Amino acid sequence: MPDHDMEKYYRARAPEYEQIYYRDVPERRRELTDEASRLEELVTGRSVLELACGTGYWTQIVSRSAASITASDLSVEMLAEAEKKAYGIPVDFVPADMFEHNFGQQKFDVVALGFWFSHQPRQKFDRLFEVLKTPLKKGGLIWMIDNNPPAEGPTIETAGLDEFGNNYKRRFLDSGEQYTILKNYFSKTELEAALSPFLAVKSLIHNKYYWSVVLKTLGN
Ligand SMILES: C[S@@+](CC[C@H](N)C(=O)[O-])C[C@H]1O[C@@H](n2cnc3c(N)ncnc32)[C@H](O)[C@@H]1O
Repeated sequence: MPDHDMEKYYRARAPEYEQIYYRDVPERRRELTDEASRLEELVTGRSVLELACGTGYWTQIVSRSAASITASDLSVEMLAEAEKKAYGIPVDFVPADMFEHNFGQQKFDVVALGFWFSHQPRQKFDRLFEVLKTPLKKGGLIWMIDNNPPAEGPTIETAGLDEFGNNYKRRFLDSGEQYTILKNYFSKTELEAALSPFLAVKSLIHNKYYWSVVLKTLGN
């Protein structure tokens, strides 16, 4: 089931979403560029399913070297932005709720998820990881990137914690419209502890602005 506040927020934010990638902070830009290189290498010649693909920022990077890409998002507004981009190979865009949609018999070498883990309720990580593992080929990999807490600028207001330890934040659109959404942050140790019951960590990079992981299924 979609989280309706989160769904509404991202639908409304679609046209301005990519501002997050173009903030004029050199170290931030460098971390993103370095991750783009790692992702491009990881997916070379591989079939990729990207879930919650948003405006296609990472899809475009994947398209430089992957053999095929299916990119899916719940929001048609996000997908409309994604479809404006040029890609290295054709992208199969699928409007779908990742928690409901069945990608059928098709299995992928890599499942990619950008900036979505931090929005997942801690008490439902098991459901998220089942969704990421189901479309993977045997031996396939999961790639994720997400935020570390803001390192500069005014402290962003925290709207509190729930009984599961999930953090909530206020977010504002350019129009001033306000939303309260779940946004969790993890130290390196917390991240390893959160992931390890479900998946084996192949690599984990925890930088100033972002973290990224490559995961494989346990026992593979
Ligand atoms: C933080 S954005 C990330 C977009 C993109 N992955 C990126 O890294 O730039 C989260 C995305 O999740 C999508 N989303 C929210 N709920 C979803 C669901 N249940 N199934 C699929 N996508 C969903 C939103 O529409 C939004 O595009």
